[in-house]
This record gives sequence, C-alpha cells and structure tokens, in this order.
Amino acid sequence: MLDYNNMVEKIRSALSPRRFIHTLGVVETAVKIAKVYYIDIEQAKIAALLHDCVKDYPHSLQIQLCKEFHIPLDETMKKNPELIHSFLGAEIAKREYEVEDSYILDAIRYHTTGRANMTLLDKIIFLSDYIEPNRTSFIGLENVRSLAYTHLDQAVYQALLLTIEYIKEQKKPLHPRTLEALQYLENSKMIKNKD
Ligand SMILES: [Fe+2]
Ligand SMILES: [Fe+2]
Repeated sequence: MLDYNNMVEKIRSALSPRRFIHTLGVVETAVKIAKVYYIDIEQAKIAALLHDCVKDYPHSLQIQLCKEFHIPLDETMKKNPELIHSFLGAEIAKREYEVEDSYILDAIRYHTTGRANMTLLDKIIFLSDYIEPNRTSFIGLENVRSLAYTHLDQAVYQALLLTIEYIKEQKKPLHPRTLEALQYLENSKMIKNKD
C-alpha cells in the first residue's frame, strides 16, 4: 500500500479542488466517528481518502475502465452513471493505491448505495460522506449528524431514508442495494422504524 502522505498527494491531483476539500471533510468525519465506535482509525482514514478517487473522471472514461477491468455494470448503473465511481473506485484503490484490505475496498465500493448487512467501516464511510462539514445543510442533515456519534445504525437508517427520498424527487433510478440496506436495518430491530 502507498504511504498515506503519498496517497494524499496522488488523490489531490486526481480530484477537483472542491472534491478534494469534500474528501478531507470525509476523512476528518470518519476519524471522529471511528473513535467513538472503536474502529481502526487507519482503515477509516484510507477508505475515506479514496472513496471518491475516480469521481472526477468523465463518465465515458469510467465506463471504458470498467470494461477494461471486467467490472460489470448493472441496469441501475447504466441508467445512472453517477453510481459507477464507487465500484470503479474500489478497483482503482487496489490497482493504483495498492490497497489490499477487503474491508477498505468494500467500504469504497458500497459508499453510495449502501448494502444489506453493512460492516461498521461501510457505515462509517457512508455516513461521513453524507454528513461531512462542507456539505450544504438540508432538512434532516443535522439530525443525522448528531445521531452518527450516538446511534450509528439509526443514523445510517435516517441517511438511507433521506437518500431514497432525494433520489425519488430527482426522478433518478434507485439502486436495489439501497432498499436492501434499509430493509436489513428494519429487520435487524436495531433501529426505530419511521411511523
Ligand atoms: Fe461518492
Ligand atoms: Fe463523496
């Protein structure tokens, strides 16, 4: 794996200044949440730093690289190419940043959609991406921000609900994995359902 400081420099040159600032916000938030839940800080830092590593590549290049690396695009990804960067990002984290830790790679892979039975690291990266301090505030964000440090599953659940609401409003296709993530939490009885 590349040295952390080298990774920071490499990611800085791969991202727009705005996305680099967002990324640093995600790193800062992921470290804070990881400390609360006794999650490995290094894993959280690296997954956060690399989560959007290919997001500023043009969609055409992302699709081309997916072909090259045999990453299958599902129907929802084809309709909404914004979803591709997570899967491709995990592959690039492995190939270019030499990350081998499958927990880190999965947290990158599922940071946009979530998935059923998310790991603690998945949850931390998904949430940090959602609540990092540079995000412009919207209704419900402050609630998720405070829950993140006290009730991790409840925070993920609220963030998933808000994500689904937003996707519907935007009339974008909802990825089935996002619904699976929500239903998994509902069935786990770890959260209070919306009523
Ligand atoms: Fe992302
Ligand atoms: Fe992000």
